[in-house]
Amino acid sequence: MVYTVTFNPALDYVMNLESISTDDINRTRSEELYYGGKGINVSAILTRLEIPNIALGFTAGFTGQKIKEMMNSDGIKNDFIELDNGFTRINVKIKYGTELDINANGPGIRKEKIEELFGKLKSLKNGDYLILAGSVPPDLPDDLYSKILEKLDGRGVNAVVDTTGNQLLNVLKYKPFLIKPNHHELSELFGEEMDTTEKITVYARKLKEMGAKNVLVSRGGDGALLIDEYGKVYLRDAVKGKLVNSVGCGDSMVAGFTAGYIKSHDYGEALKLSVASSAATAFSSELAKADEIHNIYKTL
Ligand SMILES: Nc1ncnc2c1ncn2[C@@H]1O[C@H](COP(=O)(O)OP(=O)(O)OP(=O)(O)O)[C@@H](O)[C@H]1O
Ligand SMILES: [Mg+2]
Repeated sequence: MVYTVTFNPALDYVMNLESISTDDINRTRSEELYYGGKGINVSAILTRLEIPNIALGFTAGFTGQKIKEMMNSDGIKNDFIELDNGFTRINVKIKYGTELDINANGPGIRKEKIEELFGKLKSLKNGDYLILAGSVPPDLPDDLYSKILEKLDGRGVNAVVDTTGNQLLNVLKYKPFLIKPNHHELSELFGEEMDTTEKITVYARKLKEMGAKNVLVSRGGDGALLIDEYGKVYLRDAVKGKLVNSVGCGDSMVAGFTAGYIKSHDYGEALKLSVASSAATAFSSELAKADEIHNIYKTL
């Protein structure tokens, strides 16, 4: 089974307008409501790729309830812990030719609730995957992901970690199955400009030496580089096409890789499905649909 964790899910309220004025009331042309959060996005793509998975994490209040209803109607299995304070955040995306994003903070998560998550993770067993994607809310410690992996250590659970900075560095000693920094995050980790494939290879290898089993570095429109558990380097150009939306590309990449590996046990195949899934999301206004992913996959 694959489990994803989303600490701070969100409803995205997208408001489409012609223009914005501070002198008058602004009226939308249309509006849409999506659910999201990195782990949830990964769960959505895994579900579309027919990989059984359960989305874990924390929800609160009426917005949390709405997210669960929307996920249930899309067939995305979930088992969130309900917080008894506040409500799951609503992020506002104002689109008027350009885009203004206002992301909310979200409810605080008390220590007992984190313990409840640890309790749920006790049921994970050998061969399961645990996907920790995204940043942790600012009031939680930056060793939270490593605390989770510490509890799973020695149980044969494959951890996939897509995060940045110390949260990422702290998990390496637990030998995660996969980490997926983008090239900017790799630059920040080592204080070096990642402007060539050679440099990216050197620093991706360093992350492998520090403990990661597989290191996948995404490079936006410049494709991706993978160093697999045997040290083999794979390079893939990005798929050519018109970028419509970059939100969720990284999550689609993580989901595609995990799904590809579960299906084939071949890292080249995993990278292929990963690139196809992320490109399909890049070329679509929402997260990619299954047929969009498969159509691109067939061309690779
Ligand atoms: N313009 C594009 N054309 C084709 N593919 C793209 C494009 N942008 C992104 N992708 C695909 O998505 C992958 C992930 O993109 P990126 O490196 O931007 O991830 P990220 O920064 O982690 O994203 P996120 O914001 O979701 O965390 C790329 O490796 C590539 O396969
Ligand atoms: Mg990312």
